[in-house]
Amino acid sequence: MSVLSQLNVIRVSGLTKRVSTLEGSLTILSDINFSVKSGESVAIVGASGSGKSTLLSLLAGLDVASQGDVHLDGEALSKLDEEARARVRAEKIGFVFQSFMLVQSLTALENVMLPAELAGDHDARAQAIELLEKVGLSHRLEHYPSQLSGGEQQRVAIARAFIGSPKILFADEPSANLDSKNGHLIENLLFDLNKQNGTTLVLVTHDEQLAKQCQRILHIEGGQLEKISEGVTANVG
Ligand SMILES: Nc1ncnc2c1ncn2[C@@H]1O[C@H](COP(=O)(O)OP(=O)(O)OP(=O)(O)O)[C@@H](O)[C@H]1O
Ligand SMILES: [Mg+2]
Repeated sequence: MSVLSQLNVIRVSGLTKRVSTLEGSLTILSDINFSVKSGESVAIVGASGSGKSTLLSLLAGLDVASQGDVHLDGEALSKLDEEARARVRAEKIGFVFQSFMLVQSLTALENVMLPAELAGDHDARAQAIELLEKVGLSHRLEHYPSQLSGGEQQRVAIARAFIGSPKILFADEPSANLDSKNGHLIENLLFDLNKQNGTTLVLVTHDEQLAKQCQRILHIEGGQLEKISEGVTANVG
């Protein structure tokens, strides 16, 4: 791995996403360029429909670009097939989906254990219990997603993203469904992970306070990167 790729754990160049619709081709993201350094925290903000979730999916290799590329920890995602991108995700990434994406047939505990079990981690159960305790859900281990509130499902999804201590954590509106107490709990968890483990944090949020806690803020408007501003913690550490 080159020194450059170690420094910039995410490198985005000319990233463009088009989809075909009944009305013709629609450009959702247009020529996005930026880099994220290892250990950095970055917020992505913008109006509803501006392309934030699409960008996050492309960064994590969950979706493929129409043009341009994402280099993730030195690997060009456009050169990888679906299986190879899944491997990169399993090895390096935690992802919190806007819609949680929990497996409905598994309990909270089993959902959190799943990525670690797939990675062959013998310690999956203990790790998952510890993480569910951290998100305040030790009393809901055996509940299925349908038996959990929206905010509880969100916290299970966050615990799942944390398991295996990923190098990069992507979170799409991680505190959107939470009350202020649980919102703070999750924010503290995210930034603790960022500071203690050096996890690179990229999160989409409508919460200005949360965005400002990040070192940099990317402003997306109509599928374009309008500007990059500094958060309040930019000069700390
Ligand atoms: N597969 C698709 N086909 C057609 N249009 C799409 C598709 N995926 C996304 N879009 C459109 O692209 C735009 C960006 O969607 P995206 O989900 O990235 O927005 P967002 O910024 O995350 O919004 P929100 O804040 O509401 O979550 C939206 O207008 C959406 O309707
Ligand atoms: Mg979204």
